[in-house]
Amino acid sequence: MSWSATVLTLFPQMFPGPLGVSLAGRALREGIWSCEARDIRAHALDRHRTVDDTPFGGGAGMVMRPDVVDTAIAAAMPAGDARPLIYLTPRGRLLDQKLVQQLAAGAGVVMLCGRYEGVDQRVIEARGMMEVSIGDYVLSGGELAALTLLDACVRLLPGVMGAAESAVEESHSAGMLEYAQYTRPAEWQGRAVPQVLLSGHHAEVARWRRQQSEAVTRERRPDLWTRMQVAGGGAAA
Ligand code: ADE
Repeated sequence: MSWSATVLTLFPQMFPGPLGVSLAGRALREGIWSCEARDIRAHALDRHRTVDDTPFGGGAGMVMRPDVVDTAIAAAMPAGDARPLIYLTPRGRLLDQKLVQQLAAGAGVVMLCGRYEGVDQRVIEARGMMEVSIGDYVLSGGELAALTLLDACVRLLPGVMGAAESAVEESHSAGMLEYAQYTRPAEWQGRAVPQVLLSGHHAEVARWRRQQSEAVTRERRPDLWTRMQVAGGGAAA
């Protein structure tokens, strides 16, 4: 059984989008994962195909109706569907590599993409959705967030990435940022590659990379660095 993604959206033509090429695209064609985009508007209840309405209490924008969204979900999820139902919203918990790993290890995901001012909170609660944000900025809809979440999950599926170890060493999987990388030429525009990387001393290279990783994490992401210290995972400050 392949890892299966179902996306509920007003813009199904946005899927698989960029995930139809490169690593994810090849995995899609190989059947390692599947991507079904479903048009929420197909479940509108009136002949005008209305999916949204003005917010109670006033304010700008439009809110997606709970009845239409619920009908769309019911049609997308067969009875006993074990996949988590995720609503992409800037109000959600932040997506991180740990959640990505958990989702990639499961059967797949069902994702609801909002447009306008969002989705009526009652259907989010009634369906027990997990509300997820991809970062502290506001997109014009959940679709790019859903694509981001999918990309992060799909690359972790067995058979998608080439070198198995590249998922282990990279940024965030150990709660730290990754060390800098270099390739040929060894000197470029007067800039030399750090000598240790040319030394062939594997232990020295590993030590240099760990130091690099720590330095860049401390400087750029003091929040991650502090968490590593509390967890006892990093070297002494
Ligand atoms: N929809 C709009 N902005 C978003 C964000 N930052 N994360 C997830 N979904 C969103």
